[in-house]
Amino acid sequence: MTAVPVLETRSFSVNGRDVAVTAPEDASLLAALRHDLDLKGTRVGCTEGYCGACTVLVDGRPVQSCNTPLWAAAGKAITTIEGLAQGDVLGPVQEAFLIEQAAQCGYCTNGMIMTVTGLLMQNPPATKHEIVEVLDERHICRCGAQPRILRAIDRAIAVIGGRK
Ligand code: FES
Ligand code: FES
Repeated sequence: MTAVPVLETRSFSVNGRDVAVTAPEDASLLAALRHDLDLKGTRVGCTEGYCGACTVLVDGRPVQSCNTPLWAAAGKAITTIEGLAQGDVLGPVQEAFLIEQAAQCGYCTNGMIMTVTGLLMQNPPATKHEIVEVLDERHICRCGAQPRILRAIDRAIAVIGGRK
């Protein structure tokens, strides 16, 4: 006989909108965002906390949503890539990645944009060196876009006013 999953309801905000998701008690934030809230911009990669494709902001901090349980998001403010643009105007990091064409496969790019955004929005903003260290540690991008990603970070720092 198959065990019936225990469902729990968690309330939080996503991109400024209050939501409540009822899901199995062991559901991840990633599953809730993609399946329950239809926010497919948060990508599914390794699902084990290695690749960074699933990165979102939780109360402004970059977090890998695949290994963040949904219960840990309760009461928090979640930002996904869909929440960075204001209407047709892209967020500054999105704009910088677009201008520099800083993607190859593009699949891992959304997570990188979220990490760079979170690090530049913190107070004080991260330096380029700090951002690159975090990208190295928490994101798998092994492609030819890396020089363009570095240029995009420079461009975003110049626009946002971060530290070199
Ligand atoms: S899908 Fe979350 S770190 Fe890879
Ligand atoms: S953009 Fe996906 S591997 Fe570099």
